[in-house]
Amino acid sequence: MIKAFNNKGSSFFLLKNDELSCLLQVKNGKLLMLHLGRPISEEDAPALCPETGSGWGCSVMNGELCLDSLPLAFSSGGSGDFRELPLELFLKGKILHPDFSFVKAETGVSFRGRLPGARGERESLEITLDSQYASVRIIFSLFETALTEKWLVEAKTEGLAIGKCMSLMADLQGDFIFSSFDGGWISEACRHDAPVSFSKLVNESLSGFSSNRHNPGFLLSRRGSGTDLGEVYGFNLIYSGNHYSSVQKSLQNLTRVMQGINPSGFLLELENGGIFEAPEAVVAFSSKGENGLRRCMHSFVNAHIIPQHFQGRERPVLYNSWEGCMFSFSERRLLTLAKKAKALGCELFVLDDGWFGQRNSDEAGLGDYNVNLKKLPGGLEGLSEKLGKLGLDFGLWFEPEAVNPDSELFRAHPDWAIKTDGPSLLGRNELLLDLRKAEVRDYIVENVSSAIDRAGIKYVKWDMNRHSPLLGAEAHEYILGLYEVLERIFSPRPQVLLESCASGGNRFDLGMLSFGPQAWASDNTDPIERLEIQQGLSCLYPQSAMGAHVSASPHLQSLRSTPLSTRANVSFFGIFGLELDLNHLSRAEFSELKAAVSFYKEHRKAFQFGSLSLTEAEEGAYCWQLSSEEETIVGLFHTLVHSAPGYELLRVTGLEPGRLYSVEARQQSLRIGQFSGMIKYIAPIDPGPDSLLVREADRLASLPDGGFSALCSGSALSSGIPLNLKFPGTGYNPGFRNQGDFSSNIYIIKAGP
Ligand code: DGJ
Repeated sequence: MIKAFNNKGSSFFLLKNDELSCLLQVKNGKLLMLHLGRPISEEDAPALCPETGSGWGCSVMNGELCLDSLPLAFSSGGSGDFRELPLELFLKGKILHPDFSFVKAETGVSFRGRLPGARGERESLEITLDSQYASVRIIFSLFETALTEKWLVEAKTEGLAIGKCMSLMADLQGDFIFSSFDGGWISEACRHDAPVSFSKLVNESLSGFSSNRHNPGFLLSRRGSGTDLGEVYGFNLIYSGNHYSSVQKSLQNLTRVMQGINPSGFLLELENGGIFEAPEAVVAFSSKGENGLRRCMHSFVNAHIIPQHFQGRERPVLYNSWEGCMFSFSERRLLTLAKKAKALGCELFVLDDGWFGQRNSDEAGLGDYNVNLKKLPGGLEGLSEKLGKLGLDFGLWFEPEAVNPDSELFRAHPDWAIKTDGPSLLGRNELLLDLRKAEVRDYIVENVSSAIDRAGIKYVKWDMNRHSPLLGAEAHEYILGLYEVLERIFSPRPQVLLESCASGGNRFDLGMLSFGPQAWASDNTDPIERLEIQQGLSCLYPQSAMGAHVSASPHLQSLRSTPLSTRANVSFFGIFGLELDLNHLSRAEFSELKAAVSFYKEHRKAFQFGSLSLTEAEEGAYCWQLSSEEETIVGLFHTLVHSAPGYELLRVTGLEPGRLYSVEARQQSLRIGQFSGMIKYIAPIDPGPDSLLVREADRLASLPDGGFSALCSGSALSSGIPLNLKFPGTGYNPGFRNQGDFSSNIYIIKAGP
């Protein structure tokens, strides 16, 4: 609901959904944000108006307002607000002091520019503020579980330049913890918490893309809030380029929050009447802690960000060739893998890097689209047809934004690669193509579209593997070019499933998710590392947005050995796939993996679209819960075990207290080899722990593990029921959870016996 009303001579606007309210006031022509948080009503407005104040000591008055001490929704230089400003305008190299004041407010306005934005039903309020140099339109849009804000600046004079323009600004009352999601390659989205104080906290990216260093999304949690309690705000930006967010507390205990395009090095000149479009920023709020915030953000992304065709649509289980083959494959090898993938239950076969030009390593070929006929004698069409006969859809990898200097494309068009006045530096042996150029965009659109259409491709993995040499507004123009390319390829082909990827999660953002519903979360597929990565991302993105694959053990990046059951269990909490050499699977592993795929497919709806919450777990353990209409699924993950463990409780939240529920553990397998040192105690002979006999037994058979079932009330489950013991130090017992380090279990909870 959006409501405009007057009270004691000033105008108010209340935006309200079931989760949050935003109360704006126009006072002496300035735009104040009196409240952003719990739902409130019109009658609350007078009580929420602060003293406009006569100022403190050296502060400056703007009419009767001391803007420096008020909660504002907009501010500009020269107005008497000395906190960080969201807008900087220049004319002929000089900074301006525009005097903005309110002109009008309109509802139901929409704006379609060059940037992606939230889709579907929205209620909107556009507030226009005008000055001698430019006018600013702030569009607030209300969705079921979030609010968005977007700023547009219209030049009123020739040569006006934008130095900084945020997408959102708010001044929140109180004390907060700021949580950002940071990292790098193979360590994306690791959460860091810091108290908000008088020194500014900044979350930004400068690599040209939203980056794996600092995801654009962040949380602000009111002190004292927690997993299920207290007030938590989530902020994010529908944008894939350099972003900037800052939070800083003022002396009046107002925390100024802003988010938008990174202003560093930014300068963009407009024509008279030209419009600068800032990306749409998203804010969600919950008074039910982080889990409440997760629910709000997830449902917003699922309903208003991802392309309509994929909303609520179950995604296929895929096999990806990368970690199994890298660049070394032939059609024969791929088809052998494809047959095995099909036998395991996969539905989509994705051919990753290495299918074109001289792409036999990452040193050559990027930019070319001619199929390598030595590897694929029947071309993409031939492979697609053969996969089709096996009952598999065909998916293909592209890295359209980059070029190797050693490629046909670069030899023909060296000027298509980005050239700055700095050195042309390589990243992973590649340069970026200049997507600001129309001919480059056309080349990509034509080649990618034609490969998709010719080979009946159902899924595209869109990779990008280096940081950008562009700075400031140049980097922004590149992103506009990228969005145009994505729009031209995928909007006429809405059924093609696009998974974006950038060396893993180097561009995991709402901008990319607007074109394709999933993104490869990280090249790190070690399940224990993934616990942190997926849990971090889950604060802002639904599990249906995260590609998560089962890979080999010992793991390629961490060298850690983990049970196959845990590799599968962690991947279940994302868009599940397989990415390992299937020829290396033992008979026992093959049947275990087959059972895992079939289990995922059976519960796919809940895994992909269930509502995710984190619940209490033992120290060093993780407990993730998914709730759907049909069932509740709990994943319990352990890191290092302790000898002689005590009972562990299974706690399930959100059930009806008086209702009866059945609990069933996923049937998992244990490797015989894990017990190899003990065989001599039960067998008449001592085969030795690493003997051929033991190794052969390990390859062929496995032991059942972790069986558990119970019947009890929702109330008992919410306080916790004891699980079967973990391996207590002696002997194998099928009733135990005999798992060792990095073990995990999945429990299915259903109403009724
Ligand atoms: C980086 C990606 O993150 C990997 O999954 C893989 O596609 C490689 N690029 C291929 O070069």
